[in-house]
Amino acid sequence: MCGIFGYIGDKEKEVALMANRALCELEYRGYDSWGIAAEVSGKMFAIKAIGKISLASDKELKGVMGKMSIGHSRWATHGGVTEANAHPHFNTSRTIAVIHNGIVENHEEIRSFLRGKLGNSVDKLFLSETDTEVIPHLIDYYITHEGKTFEAAFVEAGRMLEGRYAVVVMKLGEPYLLAMRDGSPLVVGKGEHEYFLASDVPAFIDHTRQVLYPGDREYMKVSADAIMLRNLDTGKKVDREWITVTWDKGSATKEGYPHFMLKEIMEQPLSLDKAIHQEDAKLEEFARLMKESEHLFFIGCGTAAKMAKLGELYAARVAGKLTNAYVGSEFAAYGQFLNKRSTIVAVSQSGETADVLEGLRVAEKEGARILALLNVVGSSIDRMSKKSLFLNAGPEIAVASTKAATAQIAVLILIAHALAKKLPEGKHLMRSAVKDIKAWLIPDLSRDIKKIAEKLLNNPSSALLRGPTNSSPYQNTPPSLVFPRRAPETSSAISLQQYPLRDIYIIGRGLNAPVAQEAAIKIQEVSYIHAEGFPGGELKHGPIALIEKGTPVIALIPNDETKRDMESNTMELRSRGAYVIGIAPDNSKLFDEWIQVPNLGLASPIASIIPIQLLAYHLAVLRGNDPDKPRNLAKSVTVK
Ligand code: G6P
Repeated sequence: MCGIFGYIGDKEKEVALMANRALCELEYRGYDSWGIAAEVSGKMFAIKAIGKISLASDKELKGVMGKMSIGHSRWATHGGVTEANAHPHFNTSRTIAVIHNGIVENHEEIRSFLRGKLGNSVDKLFLSETDTEVIPHLIDYYITHEGKTFEAAFVEAGRMLEGRYAVVVMKLGEPYLLAMRDGSPLVVGKGEHEYFLASDVPAFIDHTRQVLYPGDREYMKVSADAIMLRNLDTGKKVDREWITVTWDKGSATKEGYPHFMLKEIMEQPLSLDKAIHQEDAKLEEFARLMKESEHLFFIGCGTAAKMAKLGELYAARVAGKLTNAYVGSEFAAYGQFLNKRSTIVAVSQSGETADVLEGLRVAEKEGARILALLNVVGSSIDRMSKKSLFLNAGPEIAVASTKAATAQIAVLILIAHALAKKLPEGKHLMRSAVKDIKAWLIPDLSRDIKKIAEKLLNNPSSALLRGPTNSSPYQNTPPSLVFPRRAPETSSAISLQQYPLRDIYIIGRGLNAPVAQEAAIKIQEVSYIHAEGFPGGELKHGPIALIEKGTPVIALIPNDETKRDMESNTMELRSRGAYVIGIAPDNSKLFDEWIQVPNLGLASPIASIIPIQLLAYHLAVLRGNDPDKPRNLAKSVTVK
């Protein structure tokens, strides 16, 4: 997490303002505080503040002219959200400025090392609670006390760091920036007599499309006219290819929408269309590599973990292939079952999630094959995998994953069909699904769902409490559909109490069971309302005890083999007073609200999740939350 940016050019420019604009593009990576440093007429310009960089005023940044600057947008890990903890961090004489994304796991040891060399008074030099601050002091130590050059000191310090990092360092009087990475993202952009360094391409896409992705444990010396890449451990020169980025700046801007999240939800007809444009040969090769293995695993985190579970279900359903899906952070326990005949398919939007990378390292150690389904070309996971398939969804900026999630579903469906040697059938299914989604996902749908969100929040007792007894669905229902077999309470027992919107539950079965869990994640992330999703069948094993009069429950009921059982589960809920929002192709008297979705067959998870993305978005906005940057979360979680 955290966004980093560095610039160096041959002419004086408004470098602080440039860093500010770049950090705004990276703010999805961290937004609790920010800071910028620049060399201005041989002196260190520095500014730090708490809060979002996008809210910073240009006043203090305008007119700051220089040839290099660095900037950082923070997501706190070590130390609270304070100005002192915001990056850049400096050495005592403030000649060296450092920005860092990741974690220096051995920061305590480095402090002891400095204490050993310079005495206990070293502790007084530290002004923050961060792990990062050891870096400028360590570099300073090697320059001041061991007489090393800036570059040699940087390399020496780099070799001592343990953990995950992308670091950019500038020093007054030196006409170059130094940077290194191990595990955390860092991309280089090349302009005309200028270079950019950043956590992600949108930070500099206005300036250049020529990009280079350094590998792990590589460091860079970057001046206005040249870049030199070397291996951090051996010092050997490394050659890496420049790639031209083809996506538009437009896809990284809001294009008139009030938030990225809404824009990304509404552009799903397009992102899905792009996602299913996969070359047959690549899909078939991917499937062949999967098929060759004896044990197949999917891993992912957060939303991608739920999609990984769908990967498992599709492989079983379509191709009759047994696979296992695990959460990245829990995968290490299965390392003992891995060998050369195992294949791990990593599912990740960013390709940078630390917990997935950790799982893949376990797999790599055991000689297992790594495949990946990603949105970001050149990301860390991409570099680890033998073969990657890309979602082509364009940059996803809002923290809550929407268009990447549905693109993952689409490609997982294609992979399963390729596994079953039925790719034309899979492509046909997906083309027709995308057509139906295009016709359905229009502003009217968003407007209707907003009304439901308003109703849930305003929550007049009349809206959420059951009507007269004779409207009970229980009466005309065969007893076999009802659990348990007893009459529901009558409406006279239901007072006109209000149900303050504390919880929302979501149920689904089969392919829609992981979707119910993903739905809960969406609602939690942006609306901050407690939400839980579970398989419909699990209801009677615990969660039903939580249902009160007026508790909102969302039921995902596609026209598939789960329909009958889902209807009985919905009935069970309704008879206990749940306010049922049905997401289904067909209406039912079980529903208090019906969100109609197209009948997409195997692709029903896409139709089920989109209305919930919209519901979560509207709940967030109506509650005054920023859906793009929810509290405590970050888009790219590069820490364990
Ligand atoms: C974070 C994000 C989630 C995302 C998860 C995995 O928690 O907030 O939206 O699903 O990371 O990210 P990945 O990039 O691996 O898909």
